[in-house]
Amino acid sequence: MKEKTLIVNRIREGTVIDHIPAGRALAVLHVLGIKGNEGYSVALVMNVESRKLGKKDIVKIEGKFLDERETSLITLIAPTATVNIIKDYEVVEKRKLKLPDEIRGLLTCPNTSCISRNDVEAVSKFRIVKTSPLLLKCEYCETYITEEEVMRQILHEIR
Ligand code: CTP
Ligand code: ZN
Repeated sequence: MKEKTLIVNRIREGTVIDHIPAGRALAVLHVLGIKGNEGYSVALVMNVESRKLGKKDIVKIEGKFLDERETSLITLIAPTATVNIIKDYEVVEKRKLKLPDEIRGLLTCPNTSCISRNDVEAVSKFRIVKTSPLLLKCEYCETYITEEEVMRQILHEIR
């Protein structure tokens, strides 16, 4: 064990999302749709020392295993994160994060006349144009959405 002390205990079964850029733990919970009333035991660790990142956040969710879509959404806001699958107290898998090809439903197109904002049946869809910094493009109207705007939208929803 490299850590001198643990702020929160190791978990028995579930997911540990480690190496989240400091300050983004709440955004990670948001993209996972976890509000706190689902019954999972959740631990948030914010602004702790990390050799790789300076400061980092950690999210531990007992009893939850992420699917591919959930994992890819984390990549959007925490590309440095590692997703550890824990079974019987052991790390059984470290998932490599990979951005999804398409981001559906999560974000709003900045263009107010975009069909995704005017047709109640349309679901917003963005393609990845570039990573670091992230740049997305609306599949309907080709409007770009920057990393700053992505973060603004996601963080705005959690306030
Ligand atoms: N962890 C946990 N409960 C467990 C096992 C691990 O909460 N039963 C947490 C650890 O505290 C750590 C993360 O899961 O935050 C990854 O564990 P591990 O791979 O053992 O740590 P490192 O080797 O430091 O991982 P990395 O190389 O990804 O930094
Ligand atoms: Zn659009």
